[in-house]
Amino acid sequence: MDTSDTPTALEKRAQIGDRLSSPSAERNKGVIAKLLAETLPSGARVLEIGSGTGQHALEAVSCRSDLLWQPSDPDVISRASQDAWALDAPDQIMPSKDLNLLQPDWAAGLGPFDALVCMNVIHISPWGVCQQIAAQARRLLSGHGVVFLYGPYKEGEATAPSNLDFDRSLQSRNPEWGVRDLDVVLAEMASGGLTLERRVNMPANNLSLIFKFAGAEHASS
Ligand SMILES: C[S@@+](CC[C@H](N)C(=O)[O-])C[C@H]1O[C@@H](n2cnc3c(N)ncnc32)[C@H](O)[C@@H]1O
Repeated sequence: MDTSDTPTALEKRAQIGDRLSSPSAERNKGVIAKLLAETLPSGARVLEIGSGTGQHALEAVSCRSDLLWQPSDPDVISRASQDAWALDAPDQIMPSKDLNLLQPDWAAGLGPFDALVCMNVIHISPWGVCQQIAAQARRLLSGHGVVFLYGPYKEGEATAPSNLDFDRSLQSRNPEWGVRDLDVVLAEMASGGLTLERRVNMPANNLSLIFKFAGAEHASS
């Protein structure tokens, strides 16, 4: 994917060799990994969408030695970074896959997985990415599978001012980007048979949203 006109990161990332470090991932990876550790099913095979630098994957598997993690990204430099960080946990993190959710048949031949994890992506990509997560979850996940979304959301008058500013800034960069309305995301997930099981308020006005298929039993470890 030529990402030259759609920057994959909004912040300056440090680099040592192929390993990129995002300041925001460095700040929030611990709290996210802790929540993932208490959320993901035992022995979960995880597909991460838009893994970015790959810092989250390494932090997550460092908290849970039973996880098998498949990172992905359409951006070649990000995939190289993911593979470089994965050298610290080669038994748990697979070589990154080139997955662009706006490409037809992106999910063909993948899975099954027990969790789909997508952090800080659906507001920095066209709405079609969120639609594809909802549409392909049933195909990619086992019946007890979990979808984990992390990022900022709009909630009408309750929206944090910083998220409204962020929304305006994203849209000025790319009119197809923007902080999504929580209600609209929930409705999209419901169209894929996914029900919100848990919502967790995270630092800096972000949310973690944990979805399961309607009727599935609780499968957290
Ligand atoms: C802001 S970064 C977030 C990276 C990482 N998940 C994190 O939280 O640090 C957004 C990521 O989404 C990826 N992305 C953008 N468009 C995408 C698409 N159509 N399909 C899959 N990933 C996409 C970008 O390449 C980038 O790595």
